[in-house]
Amino acid sequence: MANTNCKPEDTLNKQDQIQSAYAEGNYKYALRLLDDLVESAGPIPEWDRYRAAIMYKLGETAAAFDAYRQAFALQAENQNRIFNDVLMMAQSQYLASSEFGEKDEQVTDFISWGANALCEAKRRGEVLFRNGDFEAALVELEAAFAHCPTDSELANDIAVILYRLGNTAEALAMFQVAHKLGGSTELVATNLLEVLEHQIDVAAIDAASDSLPMAEALPPGRVVKPRIDGNYLHYPDVSLEVCIGDAMYQRNSSADCFVLGKTWGMVEALLKQLPTPPKRILELGIWKGGSVVLFNEMFVPEKLVALDFNTNVTKYLVDYVSQRKNIALSLGVDQADKKALHQLYVREFVGQKLDLVLDDASHFYEQSRASFEALFPLLAVGGIYVVEDWGWAQWPGDHWQVNEGGDYFRDRKPLANLIIELTLLAASQPSLVAGVVVESGSVYVRRGPANIESDLDLDSLILNRGRPIPKLY
Ligand SMILES: C[S@@+](CC[C@H](N)C(=O)[O-])C[C@H]1O[C@@H](n2cnc3c(N)ncnc32)[C@H](O)[C@@H]1O
Repeated sequence: MANTNCKPEDTLNKQDQIQSAYAEGNYKYALRLLDDLVESAGPIPEWDRYRAAIMYKLGETAAAFDAYRQAFALQAENQNRIFNDVLMMAQSQYLASSEFGEKDEQVTDFISWGANALCEAKRRGEVLFRNGDFEAALVELEAAFAHCPTDSELANDIAVILYRLGNTAEALAMFQVAHKLGGSTELVATNLLEVLEHQIDVAAIDAASDSLPMAEALPPGRVVKPRIDGNYLHYPDVSLEVCIGDAMYQRNSSADCFVLGKTWGMVEALLKQLPTPPKRILELGIWKGGSVVLFNEMFVPEKLVALDFNTNVTKYLVDYVSQRKNIALSLGVDQADKKALHQLYVREFVGQKLDLVLDDASHFYEQSRASFEALFPLLAVGGIYVVEDWGWAQWPGDHWQVNEGGDYFRDRKPLANLIIELTLLAASQPSLVAGVVVESGSVYVRRGPANIESDLDLDSLILNRGRPIPKLY
């Protein structure tokens, strides 16, 4: 029972004595003074933290941890400090226990408790960030950073969000913090580069300059060409078999050789159009995995994401991807589903602009048009959007001209409609589309500097003096 006659000055006096005893390493005496203080003044929540520290010094780790837990629950305003104390305690305990080869359950408990609180805030922040809810993500990540002010990755994430929210000055200051904290220079530099690239975009729009050296805005990389042997393309660890027409259906991928649904000539045509090797690639249409493997081996990209509405892909591709951190497959995604495309982009590319989008999926007009409207704005300035096999309705031969491409294509509108529209778009919106190159196999659309925040609406962007654009049927 507390002695309610205890005077405030006595309490202050006792507190000083406890602190001095603790500082002098006289922990038992400090504990006795603390017990006396509680006896005379009643429980004082902020002293639970001191009790915990004293118990810890006395080797009573379990009691110390309980006191910290209690303090943490009761003192919202002191949670950061308590958290840091616990982390430090956990760290030294961990080091001690690993030195003596012991496995102390209490230590594991400390560590997981501290790490959980931090990870939870971090995890919530990252999910919000990926979903594009930058403001809410900032709140969570800043809370996590307050708990762990030496985490350079967190500082870096916060900087990226600040930039996305338009706080450029604060973002740059935070990048500096991340750098000083000794985080991955490469990560910080990559993000800074992204900021600079965006600044270049903005400057380009301001200047409305057609002569901007766009290709040079992308940093250089490398192209690793395969050794070509007949229908096979060989890389040191994996090969590709070129299969077009019926062979695409008849041949199957294996662990070391993947079916590729395009010729080497088509790949060379693509290489000619790329200003530099693309770092961030989104591919539509996976089939038997050959193009995913080829683009990964050939461009060594920072990130390659491939989607398909089919949910079954060859297990050999799944194995290939699972051994690499830079590739992600997104299955069950329809290329016409703009919302799904946006979610995928935010999740996988975390807002970083794309260098190459390759549409080799349905080859249907409406679906391919929807993908273009959603994805073209997400390209970096100078980035390339490729629509493959656009001319199937014009291809020669009875299969295409008499049998109309079989059941798959027969009742479909020609994809050539989209290519006509893209050409007209280049003339109507020159700052958006810097150029269109039409080749017999594919069309290549180059992104201009105009900043577009939403999906394109081709109907309103293509100008024709108010008159309709004729359609091919
Ligand atoms: C021509 S294959 C892709 C070939 C592959 N890119 C290559 O070069 O080896 C077309 C792929 O697109 C997928 N696809 C068809 N329609 C689609 C749609 N609406 N959305 C997403 N994928 C689709 C098919 O399942 C198929 O795997």
